[in-house]
Amino acid sequence: MEFRHRFSDRSQMMTPSPIRKLVPLMREPGMISFGGGYPNASTFAFSTVDIAFKSGITYTIDHQLIDLACQYGPTDGHPFLLPGLQKWHVAKDGWMPQRNQIQVLNGSQEGLHIMAYLFLNHDDWVAVSEPAYPGALGAFRAFTKNFLSFPIDGDGSITTELERRLTKHRSTGLPMPKFIYEVPSGHNPGGVRLSLERRHHLLSISHRFDIPILEDDPYQLVQLEESTVLPTLQRLDTKGQVIRLDSFSKIFAPGLRLGYATGPSEVIQMFNLYKQGTNLHVSSMIQVILAGFLEKHEPDDFFRLIRANCRIYRSNRDVMIDSARRFLPESVHFNVPVEGMFLWIELPIEIDAELMLDRFGMEYKVLMVPGSAFSTCGGLKHCMRLSFSMVTHAEITEGMKRLGAMIQKMKS
Ligand SMILES: Cc1ncc(COP(=O)(O)O)c(C=O)c1O
Repeated sequence: MEFRHRFSDRSQMMTPSPIRKLVPLMREPGMISFGGGYPNASTFAFSTVDIAFKSGITYTIDHQLIDLACQYGPTDGHPFLLPGLQKWHVAKDGWMPQRNQIQVLNGSQEGLHIMAYLFLNHDDWVAVSEPAYPGALGAFRAFTKNFLSFPIDGDGSITTELERRLTKHRSTGLPMPKFIYEVPSGHNPGGVRLSLERRHHLLSISHRFDIPILEDDPYQLVQLEESTVLPTLQRLDTKGQVIRLDSFSKIFAPGLRLGYATGPSEVIQMFNLYKQGTNLHVSSMIQVILAGFLEKHEPDDFFRLIRANCRIYRSNRDVMIDSARRFLPESVHFNVPVEGMFLWIELPIEIDAELMLDRFGMEYKVLMVPGSAFSTCGGLKHCMRLSFSMVTHAEITEGMKRLGAMIQKMKS
């Protein structure tokens, strides 16, 4: 897939930093650099950093490494991290991105913003599910108000409906969406995963309508069942039409703000240009910490740790589903989440969840996000997202009991 003609007017004006271009050259053996305005490493505040991981393994950023961890680094990613990231990606997804196909990010949220910045003029369109992750809607809305939405069910995005709506949209003569936004695993807020059949169908739609896919997959490894992880859209893609965002937030530590984009080099180069003009690169120290973790934990060890952590989410999910069945009226519908951290519930259509929470949330002392937050058009008012990641079993049971009582009060 060719990308040049798809970029927004603003992103066509970006130019590479003449100083950033020197960064890789400065590491050439024997090079004497009068180049970048780097502070002298002897002035840095740190001498070493000792890290103890919960796995029992320790890692020291020693005297040799500390200067690299404290200094400016290349924009695409720290040289200490990139090989580990490639190894991780191939172990996880069965596809090895080349160095010019990776950009390390401050979380995948940064990638959502960059995609919108790079692709969207104000009259452009984006295809998104209804409901959709509000962080993505927020990132996209800064650039356009035009959303072509498609529904989800227990198997994820209803791709036949997307296809129908794209066909109809094309007949209106309006510009086609610049990209299709998809959260294939543990959909936020739907909690569902895109079936294999629909993954193939989505790719064929992307190809047929000549629209790239933005695959945002932070819950890929947050598996609540023993079933195997489905192949990513990027892995199934044969035409270079998927830009993928990975995140370490749900499997490592969100406060570190670590994620990365992979995809066609033409797009990744634009991600790089964007970062050159905004924050230069992700914190070197944080990248070195992740590099150390990946060096000390083989992918299989990391998978094992993630699976162990998922048991927490799985048992929380089970308690929440059990409580939903016991305490919520039968007229409330939900799918059992198989990945991720969320339960999406649909109340009887006449109940406005936001109004209910405004009126009774404080009285019943129970909180959740009303459905309208996930809508492109102020809809989904009768829906709610419940997160089961951070609560104890006792809190889940009590909270669901209160929710059931609040719904009954609202109905009466
Ligand atoms: C679907 C989805 N995309 C992106 C993000 C942002 O993640 P990160 O912490 O990597 O920026 C989230 C966070 O909750 C999310 O649910």
